[in-house]
Amino acid sequence: MASYPNKVYGFEEVSRHNRDKDCWLVISGKVYDVSSFMEDHPGGEEVFLSATGKDATKDFEDVGHSGVAMEMMDGYCIGEIDATTVPVKRNYVLWFVFAAVNCCSSAIANGAGSKN
Ligand code: HEM
Repeated sequence: MASYPNKVYGFEEVSRHNRDKDCWLVISGKVYDVSSFMEDHPGGEEVFLSATGKDATKDFEDVGHSGVAMEMMDGYCIGEIDATTVPVKRNYVLWFVFAAVNCCSSAIANGAGSKN
């Protein structure tokens, strides 16, 4: 059984721990303080740093971590993330930019903005 403190963190607070020896990760709704594990992580410490300040669930899953890694995680869990504080994923932003560009280019094609 997982035995982490029953604490809920806001995303802003978690994001502040984004450096060497002070590194927190958000994976599957839980918050992990991996500061003491950085040097020993077989995937390297850089990947931890690049996984801070966001929901790192997909990054973690994409690697296909072993059962051993999953068991180790419990030891670093310090609580849960308040899901309402996690920013919307970038995919949506990209979709919005794509839609806006599309909209502008069809407006231009239809003559909007022409001086005549
Ligand atoms: C508490 C969180 C994590 C723990 C305890 C952990 C643990 C481990 C362990 C034990 C391994 C050795 C292979 C295995 O047993 O699966 C590993 C490999 C690796 N991890 Fe993590 N990991 C964590 C988070 C992450 C995250 C967030 C990323 C990506 C951003 C990541 C990227 C990698 C990579 C790239 C490897 C090397 C895979 C390979 O070369 O075979 N890990 N990790």
